[in-house]
Amino acid sequence: MSATIIDGKIFSARVRENAGRQVAALKARHGLTPGLAVVLVGEDPASQVYVRNKGKATTEAGMKSEEIRLSAEASEEEVLAVVRRLNADPSIHGILVQLPLPPQVNEMAVLDAIDPAKDVDGFHVINTGRQAVGLPAMVPCTPLGCIIMLKEVLGDLSGLNAVVVGRSNIVGKPMASLLLSENCTVTIAHSRTRDLPAVCRGADILVAAVGRPEMIRGDWIKPGATVIDVGINRIPKEDGKTRLVGDVCFAEAVEVAGAITPVPGGVGLMTVACLLANTVTAACRQMGIEVPEV
Ligand code: GUN
Repeated sequence: MSATIIDGKIFSARVRENAGRQVAALKARHGLTPGLAVVLVGEDPASQVYVRNKGKATTEAGMKSEEIRLSAEASEEEVLAVVRRLNADPSIHGILVQLPLPPQVNEMAVLDAIDPAKDVDGFHVINTGRQAVGLPAMVPCTPLGCIIMLKEVLGDLSGLNAVVVGRSNIVGKPMASLLLSENCTVTIAHSRTRDLPAVCRGADILVAAVGRPEMIRGDWIKPGATVIDVGINRIPKEDGKTRLVGDVCFAEAVEVAGAITPVPGGVGLMTVACLLANTVTAACRQMGIEVPEV
């Protein structure tokens, strides 16, 4: 039997429309236009696409969008100076520094310099810690998008076995922490995990975030499981062009899973949508007003 396809287009459109309505309400009721600044250092082609998409979505939601581009040779001090300027700018409520950064720029130092209240990526240790202990926090966009889709598909996640494959600071660790907050029984698997296929077969919810094209095979999946594929990998085709694939072998997995996100058209769209939602949340918290119910 073929799995239900979890359509990121539908879910992300809902989150984006909601953010757009909230922005309209904030403008009308409080004269507040949320502002998001995205900083891109260097010319990584994938990052350029992501940054362009983020800027376009921000404008479409009615928010102020500022894009700051620095050369691949920019020093750490130059990047920090931009972050400090944005921290002090009252028209900017969200700051996102696109990762990865060039090797001469210390990623941790840059993330640490962002005002935690403006940290719409949720990567600052203050936000990581606040989320982990159950305090209000900015939550990383990709894991947040995955949780929204999982709750739409499964309802209450309590008691389900969730396996997160990958332990990155951007996705794997915050994803596991959010699943734990939803009362899942959580396993984080990684490159040193023994018998990874067997661990994956125990998952009611399987989240793949390893960055290895089609690594997770159909026979690693428990029949009926919900599979969330966070991977976005560009691989060569026979005709010399390229195509995008996830970390899960979709053709095999779709025959076993109960529900699955496609690549493209799944989690990636939710990341951008949740960035808009986080910017609205950040703007409201900074101004001491309620997030509008719309
Ligand atoms: N690079 C890949 N994903 C992300 C993300 O969600 N935020 C930032 N800042 N950089 C990324």
